[in-house]
Amino acid sequence: MAFKSVLFVSLLIAAMAAPIAEAQLGLISGLLGLIRIQGTVFCTANGNMGVNGTATPIFPNALVQLRCGNGNVVSTSTTNGSGIFSILLDPIQFLLSSLLSSCNLVVNTPLASCNASLPSIGGLLSPLQFIGNTLAGLLNVANIIPAGFQFLPNL
Ligand SMILES: *[C@@H]1O[C@H](CO)[C@@H](O)[C@H](O)[C@H]1NC(C)=O
Ligand SMILES: *[C@@H]1O[C@H](CO)[C@@H](O)[C@H](O)[C@H]1NC(C)=O
Ligand SMILES: *[C@@H]1O[C@H](CO)[C@@H](O)[C@H](O)[C@H]1NC(C)=O
Repeated sequence: MAFKSVLFVSLLIAAMAAPIAEAQLGLISGLLGLIRIQGTVFCTANGNMGVNGTATPIFPNALVQLRCGNGNVVSTSTTNGSGIFSILLDPIQFLLSSLLSSCNLVVNTPLASCNASLPSIGGLLSPLQFIGNTLAGLLNVANIIPAGFQFLPNL
């Protein structure tokens, strides 16, 4: 009798546990995400790669801001020795669609700091472009790049 009821309870738990585990896994894989905005800033008049491709000089130590809505600075990063910056965002706090529609990357460090012949005023601005998701272990990473910088003299 005792054995039977233990068996019954175990079966009941097993039957209940299966859908719960699946639901939890679904929930977790939905939450284990990351939004990564990454790109290279080049030391050119418009911040983009020049005719010489990868031989184009890069812009190190440039402050890159993510500005949303009315220009609120939401996150910042600095380009490294390869001119690369990276901003990581939590998808729970940021909706991909609204990031893409209402945010821009702004480089505030004057271009003159990487090449004295370039302007010492103004800055660079680029909209964002989504290029797809990649899996990094359990993490689903939404990858965003600068769509293309332009120089704005009174940024
Ligand atoms: C591209 O490379 C060539 C050969 O090294 C060089 O002469 C030229 O100045 C470069 N152009 C630019 C825009 O950097
Ligand atoms: C800059 O960051 C990129 C991406 O994380 C990395 O691959 C590269 O090695 C870094 N360059 C330097 C000079 O630290
Ligand atoms: C600096 O910028 C000027 C003007 O764009 C360009 O002609 C020159 O080649 C650049 N110098 C270097 C070292 O990249």
